[in-house]
Amino acid sequence: MSESTAAPGVAADAAVVLGVETSCDETGLALYCSRRGLLAHALHSQVGLHAAYGGVVPELASRDHIHRMLPLLQQVLDEAGLQAADIDAVAYTAGPGLIGALLTGAAFGRALAWALQRPALGVHHMEAHLLAPLLSAPELRPPFVALLVSGGHSMLVAVEALGHYRLLGDTLDDAAGEAFDKTAQVLGLPYPGGPHLARLAESGDPRRFKFSRPLTDRPGLDFSFSGLKTQVLLAARAQAPLDEVTRADLARGFEEAVVDTLRIKCERALVASGYRTLVVAGGVGANRRLREALAAAAGQGGYAVHYPELAFCTDNGAMVAFAGALRFLHRPQDSLDLDVRPRWELTELEPMEAA
Ligand code: KG4
Ligand code: ZN
Repeated sequence: MSESTAAPGVAADAAVVLGVETSCDETGLALYCSRRGLLAHALHSQVGLHAAYGGVVPELASRDHIHRMLPLLQQVLDEAGLQAADIDAVAYTAGPGLIGALLTGAAFGRALAWALQRPALGVHHMEAHLLAPLLSAPELRPPFVALLVSGGHSMLVAVEALGHYRLLGDTLDDAAGEAFDKTAQVLGLPYPGGPHLARLAESGDPRRFKFSRPLTDRPGLDFSFSGLKTQVLLAARAQAPLDEVTRADLARGFEEAVVDTLRIKCERALVASGYRTLVVAGGVGANRRLREALAAAAGQGGYAVHYPELAFCTDNGAMVAFAGALRFLHRPQDSLDLDVRPRWELTELEPMEAA
């Protein structure tokens, strides 16, 4: 556990914030101290629960979160050597996400905060992803460009200051992770397919299938990945029945196309914003080939690129505790509203500092 991850700008008043993440199919709890950094984190993945259905079943997700939260709370308290009474505030993911799943975390977080007589606050899931790289790089400060690539989002955001977000580009259809998952399904891989597809692509030949780099042939920073998935589907049908080598080549061709597209758009966003730092967050940020491509491009282009630790790329409680600590120190909140927002724009958030 890093001791060097104190929240930026935080002075003597240290706060211990419990983070609760339940927006989709991971139950994540963590304790973050604004002075000492991350104290403990624990995660339960529901992948096994949903695998048979080929996707997340919202009602099953909600029920499972309810079972997991209390044991995970005990686990992080034990790991940190703290009591519940040591918690200064409870931060839970209030959106965007699955409404039932969000409600379980919000109800748990609010009830716990009420019992402890502490404030509770709802955190924006994408802000938590976006700030996750700061957990291990506290010296990293805005302004920077953030590429947020997860199962539900593909966004380029200009982070002008903490909480000050300007949307540069968004997906017109499927998110990058969604495209990975759907293409993996085409290739007969288990859910969630992103990491499986990436593993299969390792042995693939990048020259055999050349898929398009959507929307890179015209100006703009938006993404569109659904056509790419269709291209793979058509190529797979043309090659049926698929042997192992062809499956790997298709996976590699797809991965190359996504990685290339993301790299091109990131470079454009850096030019458009004038910023020299790129931050990559969200589940697809765990992709090794994406990391390598962006590192090489950063070297050539003279800009810096940062990622969260691998464990904090996909959904987790640590990023919620961290974003919650920043929000709490910016404005301690104590409303009793059970506010969840399945749809919630990053740009609606209150800035935490001047741009
Ligand atoms: O951020 P995340 O855990 O959840 C959402 O907020 O959506 O992202 C999950 C997404 C899934 O689509 C998953 O397939 C993808 O991230 N993913 C990957 C990799 N690891 C996770 N995609 C490509 N390569 C990976 N190594
Ligand atoms: Zn996420």
